[in-house]
Amino acid sequence: MSDSKHNILVTEPIPEEVLSYLKGFGNVTVGEAGEYQHVDQLIADIPKFDALLCMLSNPVNEQVLKAGSKLKVVANFAVGYNNIDVEAAQKLSIKVANTPDVLTEACGDFAMGLLLATTRHFYAAEKYLRDGKFNGWEPMGFLGPELRGRTLGIVGMGRIGQAFARRAKAFGMEIIYHNRSSIEPELEKELEASYFDDLEAMVQKADVLSLNCPLTPQTHHLVDERLLNLMPKHAVLINISRGPVVDEAALAKALHNRTIYAAGLDVFEEEPKVHPELLSAPNCTMLPHIASATFETREAIGMLAAKAIVQVLQGESEQNIPNLVSVS
Ligand code: GLV
Repeated sequence: MSDSKHNILVTEPIPEEVLSYLKGFGNVTVGEAGEYQHVDQLIADIPKFDALLCMLSNPVNEQVLKAGSKLKVVANFAVGYNNIDVEAAQKLSIKVANTPDVLTEACGDFAMGLLLATTRHFYAAEKYLRDGKFNGWEPMGFLGPELRGRTLGIVGMGRIGQAFARRAKAFGMEIIYHNRSSIEPELEKELEASYFDDLEAMVQKADVLSLNCPLTPQTHHLVDERLLNLMPKHAVLINISRGPVVDEAALAKALHNRTIYAAGLDVFEEEPKVHPELLSAPNCTMLPHIASATFETREAIGMLAAKAIVQVLQGESEQNIPNLVSVS
C-alpha cells in the first residue's frame, strides 16, 4: 500500500460503482463476504487503515476503534448503527456516518410485502406447490386475514415507519403509532395516524404490530413475553428493525402457543443464527435481513457511506457532512 494515498477498508463486496468512486481517493481493500463478522479479524487488520466502510454485521466496538491508530472515519453501510460504539469513537475523535433516507422507500415496500407474505401464507403455499401437493383449487386452503380495515401499530414513526404507514394506508389500514414524541401535526393528518404515548395501550389495539425503531438499550427486548401477552390473539408482529428488539425465545413460545397469530421477521437476535424454536414455529415468515436489498438502494447506501469517508479524509467540516452521527 502506498503511503501517499489514504487506505480504505471495505469489509464486504459492495456495488462496483461505489468501489470505483472510492478508488479515486485511496487504496481500497475489499474483504470477503463474512470475513469481518468477528471482532478479532477487525482488530488484526484495522491498524493499516484510515477509513472503514463497514457492514451492520461487523462489530466495531471500542477495542476495534482503539486498534485503529490511523482511523479517522467509520461509515456504516446501513442506517442503523448499533454495531458501532459511537461514544468510544467520539472519544477517539473518529467520525461515524450512517446512511439515512436512501433506503426508506425500499424498506417501506419490503415491510408491506412481508406483511402480505405473512398474512397470506406465501411461503407455506409456495412450498406446498413445489412439494407437488397442489391438487386443485381449494376453497379452504391457506386462508388468512385481510388487511383492509385492520389497525397497524407502528413502534418508531421515523422515516421507515412513515413509509410503511403510507403504504398500509393505501391498503385500507388504520394507523396508530408509538414514538418518543408525536410527529408533526400535518404528517399525522396526512397519515390519519393516532399517537399513543403508552406502548402497552397501543399494542392492545394493534392487529399488526410493526417494529421500526432503532436498537438502543431502551428498545432491547421491547417485545418480551409480557408485551406478547398483551397483543390480541389474532395479531401479527412484523420486525424489520433489529432482531434484539424482540425476545426471540418469548416470540417463538408465543407462536407455538398461539398467543399471537403470526410473525414476519427480516432480522434476528444473533444473526446469522436463527432461534431453533422460531424455525419450527407456525405462521412465521423469515427472511435473511434483505429489507433494503434493491439494486438502486444498495448503490445509494454505498455512495452515501463512501462520500462521508471522502469528505472526512479531505478535511471537510462536520456541518457539511449531513450523515455523521454522534451521541449527545
Ligand atoms: C439495515 O438494516 C439498515 O439499518 O440499513
